Amino acid sequence: MTQIYTARQEVTLNWNNFIRQSHRWLSIVFTVAVIINIIAMIAQLQAIWIGLLALFPLIPMLLSGLYLFALPYLAARRHRGSTPLSQV
Ligand code: HEM
Repeated sequence: MTQIYTARQEVTLNWNNFIRQSHRWLSIVFTVAVIINIIAMIAQLQAIWIGLLALFPLIPMLLSGLYLFALPYLAARRHRGSTPLSQV
């Protein structure tokens, strides 16, 4: 079934998709940073920047992750009261 969206809904969907994709790619950056941290630990290298390498992507990941977590609850709140056609 094709769904028709308003321009406003379209912008929201694009934004949500952008946040999801950012979260997804940051997870790769974070994983690489964790591997570098483990290698540095084994090699007994100690430098602040190595620790920060993982912390920097983790902060936007936390924010985007919390946003993704809230999405279904916000959508449910927006649709509360409007009975889906299938249940009419
Ligand atoms: C820092 C705190 C984080 C929070 C609060 C968080 C939260 C979330 C939430 C709520 C979702 C969406 C689940 C869904 O409804 O489909 C998600 C997706 C995902 N998370 Fe996280 N996350 C966090 C950190 C991470 C980390 C550290 C990784 C991996 C290194 C990661 C990897 C992913 C991936 C790959 C997805 C799927 C993205 C997609 O749909 O393509 N997340 N996360």
